[in-house]
Amino acid sequence: MTRPLTLAIPKGRILDEALPMLARVGIEPEAEFHDKKSRALRFATNRPDISIIRVRAFDVATFVAHGAAQIGIVGSDVVEEFDYSELYAPVDLDIGHCRLSVAEPVDLADEDEAAMSHVRVATKYPYLTRRYYEARGIQAECVKLNGAMELAPSLGLSRRIVDLVSSGATLKANGLVETHVIMQVSARLVVNRAAYKMRSADLTPLVEGFRKAVGVKDAA
Ligand code: PRP
Repeated sequence: MTRPLTLAIPKGRILDEALPMLARVGIEPEAEFHDKKSRALRFATNRPDISIIRVRAFDVATFVAHGAAQIGIVGSDVVEEFDYSELYAPVDLDIGHCRLSVAEPVDLADEDEAAMSHVRVATKYPYLTRRYYEARGIQAECVKLNGAMELAPSLGLSRRIVDLVSSGATLKANGLVETHVIMQVSARLVVNRAAYKMRSADLTPLVEGFRKAVGVKDAA
């Protein structure tokens, strides 16, 4: 018997929207998955051929790119930040919508970008940040943080941040304003390319199931 497929899904906000989508695809995690006190990281599902791992969004991309998980759900921000050649992203799941943006303190936000040659930016996205500024002829020095980027300007770590913005509430609560949108973000189904070839009989129907589940949501 072939080993079950491992589906990697992110902790955090996408999860709430991903679970109804999984249900439409016919995948229901075991009860322990919903137990907030559980320290388990790997879960069985109603389908004996599929198990789920719940990891950080950036790690979804890493697990799938290395073939440790064959399929996953992750934001397009993460797909583009890593740019892994082994990661195939065949379906836009139309959930987890937000944007990756530059933000600055309210009182400093009107500086003319054209006059700048260098910026210092606190971010979890050094690759996308450098690429964005490079396209404008500006060299970006990135200070890598893993969360709470919004603290950086007030504590003098960097004047700018590049982070995800959804409602804008976190920026507002920290005295920041969004000055440039780098990209619109939504969750993608990602598949390991080698696994997609080797286990096509298992993965192709699953990918099609997700594709149809997006259509169902659109029609609702
Ligand atoms: C994300 C992001 C912002 C916030 C934006 O963090 O990093 O901090 O959401 O959302 P808003 O515009 O609706 O306020 P999240 O809470 O997902 O946790 P994280 O810091 O672990 O990424």
